[in-house]
Amino acid sequence: MNFVGEHILSVAQLNRADVEEIFSVADIMTPFAHRERVTRVLDGAILCNLFFEASTRTRLSFGTAFNLLGGSVIETTDMASTSLVKGESLQDFARVVSGYSDVIVMRHPIDGAVAEFAESSRSPVLNGGDGSNEHPTQALLDLYTIKKELRARKKDLDDLRIAVIGDLKYGRAVHSLIKLLKLFRNITVHLVAPPDLGAPENVIADLLKAGHEVQHFEQLAHGIQTVDVLYVTRIQEERFSSSAEAHKCKGLFRINQAVFSQYCEPDTVIMHPLPRDSRDAAQELSVDLDSHPNFAVFRQSDNGLIVRMALFALILDVENKVEDHSAPVGWFSDAKKWD
Ligand code: CP
Repeated sequence: MNFVGEHILSVAQLNRADVEEIFSVADIMTPFAHRERVTRVLDGAILCNLFFEASTRTRLSFGTAFNLLGGSVIETTDMASTSLVKGESLQDFARVVSGYSDVIVMRHPIDGAVAEFAESSRSPVLNGGDGSNEHPTQALLDLYTIKKELRARKKDLDDLRIAVIGDLKYGRAVHSLIKLLKLFRNITVHLVAPPDLGAPENVIADLLKAGHEVQHFEQLAHGIQTVDVLYVTRIQEERFSSSAEAHKCKGLFRINQAVFSQYCEPDTVIMHPLPRDSRDAAQELSVDLDSHPNFAVFRQSDNGLIVRMALFALILDVENKVEDHSAPVGWFSDAKKWD
């Protein structure tokens, strides 16, 4: 695909070559993300962040990525502070906001709302998560992380064996990741979910059609054996009809040091898109694994910056100009440690 000026709404838009192109531009972005060099390649450009659901990583990493490329960020984090609450349509909203910005990231609680907004936008729109539908940039950073972690183990994305664990019904990050995996060869996916929270048929259909192996598990101990990657997700309480319903599903699957040592292969990579639910009732991924060398969760969130910088560079057609507008940093060198 030619990324220039394109919306990124779903992983279904991408083929394998597109994903590999994003990853190679991400590699170029790494010294800039790590503040070893600075670039002003997007000087004068404006990102508009529209986040109508809570977010830590997606909003802040998109904003930071744009700033690190030399651009400026405007944003709103609350629908109630926009004129959408006065009856303004998404179409009018898109026409107006796209006049104020060169690229837009939107998170919206309703499935398909970001795509609807994009239809009327004059600037490219990136889907920062729409309802329980998709979270395409999360899946790209997840896959980039898996590739890097596996490279250190002399493995690749082809032949990947992955267990995805937790709320596979409502988890948009896991939907995008599962759909993206179909692009690789000989993938094995273990779907480990409580009975009512399995992955929707449409999410796994293409994976099955492409001949990959998909196995369903309701027992954590069975599902997490013989895989290269554990991808743990939280119960998406905000999508349930009530907090009480969500609570019935919490705490059913808990990965901790003891479970990992008993059932997983020693070099299995541990991932989570975050946020993890650290409240007593949940704890799907225990902090007692945080210092384990296979715990890639914060490398994963750091990679969000790199991959989102790559997407901006490709969409705004500056991926080959980043070095021309760059310089060594003068203010900061070794203060922060990157894994
Ligand atoms: N992974 C993710 O989407 O995190 P936030 O909800 O904090 O953006």
